[in-house]
Amino acid sequence: MSSSEDLEQLRGVGSATADKLQDAGYNTIKSVAVASPGELSENAGVGDNTAAKIIRAARQEADVGGFETGAQLLEQRQKIGKLKTLVPEVDRMLGGGMETQSITETYGEFGSGKSQFTHQLAVNVQLPEEHGGLGQSAVFIDTEDTFRPERVAQMVKGLEGEILEDVVRRDLDYTKDDVEELELDADISDLSDEANEVLDDLVDEFLDRIHVAKAFNSNHQILLAEKARDIADDLEDTDFPVGLLAVDSLTAHFRAEYVGRGNLANRQQKLNKHMHDILRVASLHNAAAVVTNQVQSNPDSMFGDPTKPVGGNILGHTSTFRIYIRKSKKDKRIIKLVDAPNLPDGESVLRIKEEGLKPE
Ligand code: GTP
Ligand code: MG
Repeated sequence: MSSSEDLEQLRGVGSATADKLQDAGYNTIKSVAVASPGELSENAGVGDNTAAKIIRAARQEADVGGFETGAQLLEQRQKIGKLKTLVPEVDRMLGGGMETQSITETYGEFGSGKSQFTHQLAVNVQLPEEHGGLGQSAVFIDTEDTFRPERVAQMVKGLEGEILEDVVRRDLDYTKDDVEELELDADISDLSDEANEVLDDLVDEFLDRIHVAKAFNSNHQILLAEKARDIADDLEDTDFPVGLLAVDSLTAHFRAEYVGRGNLANRQQKLNKHMHDILRVASLHNAAAVVTNQVQSNPDSMFGDPTKPVGGNILGHTSTFRIYIRKSKKDKRIIKLVDAPNLPDGESVLRIKEEGLKPE
C-alpha cells in the first residue's frame, strides 16, 4: 500500500512536498518516476528544478529503467495479457485479444456499438484467463451517461453455460455438483427460480467489480483518469486488481468544449496529457485500456474524411490498436482493425444481441 511516507524516502522530499505530491495524485514512487518534470511541477506545484530532482531520485528508487535490452523488453512483453471479446473471429483478428499495457481505440459513428463493446469488455475482463478474461476488475469513466448496469446484467447472464458455471463456482462458492444441478446452460426462459436467483447474485458480484465514474466535463474527465490510478493502486494487492480502464467517450467533452480552429492546439494538448495518464495506468498495472471515439462529421471539418476518428495524430500515436466499428444490416457490425503495429489489417463480423456481443 502506498502512503506519503513512501514518498518521503526520496531524497529531497520532505513531508510537505510528499503531501503536495499525494494531493496531485502521485501516490507511489513509481508514479513519480514516470512523470515528466513539467507535468510534476504543474500538477504538484513544486519548482521545475525540484521536480527534476525528485523524479531523478524516484527513478533510482523505482527501477523503471532507461534503456532496456531486447531480452528485458521481451520479458515485459511476456507479461502482456490478452482480453478477449469472446467473438472468436474478432479475437483472431486482434491476435488473441486486446493487449494490456496499451490503449485500444474503438471508433465509429453513433449507434455503431462502441458503448456495447466497452460494456462487454467490463464483463469479460472479470472472467478467468482460461475463458478469455484477465480475472480482474474494471474502471469505467462514463462521459455520456451511457453506462447501464442492466445491460451488464444481460451480458453476464448471456455468457456461455460453461463460463457461467465456472464463475458461479468462483464467486458464489458453489461446488461442481451443485452448480451442475442449476442447469445454467438452459434457455433463459427455462431456468429454475433458484438458477435465476443465483444469476442475480452473480450479476451483483460483477457489478461490484466495475468502478464507474461519470465525467461532467473534460477537466473532470482528466481528474477521473488521475483518480483511476489511485483505484488501481488500492486494488493492486486484492484478488481483483484493475485489468481494464475504459473511457467512453474519450473525445466527446473535448470536442464540445474546444470548438473552432483557435482552440485546436489547446484541445490536443489536453487530450495528449489525458491519453498519457490512461497509458500510465495501463503500463504500471498491466491493464488493458479501451477508449471510444466518434468519427469526424461534416460540420467539424468541411473537407475531412467522415470515417476518420476525431483527435487526429495524437490519439493515433498513443493508441496501439485502433478498431473501426461500422453498422451493417440489423444487429450486424463490421469490426475493422486499423494500423496495428504487428498485425495485418483485417475485418471481422459480430452481432449485438440481447446476450451481448456474439459471433455471426
Ligand atoms: P454513440 O455513443 O452514440 O456514439 O454510439 P455507440 O457507438 O456507443 O453505440 P452503442 O454502443 O450505444 O450501440 C447502440 C446499439 O446497440 C443500438 O442501436 C442497438 O442496436 C444495440 N443495443 C444496445 N442495447 C441493446 C440491447 O439491450 N439489446 C440488443 N439486442 N441490442 C442493443
Ligand atoms: Mg456510446
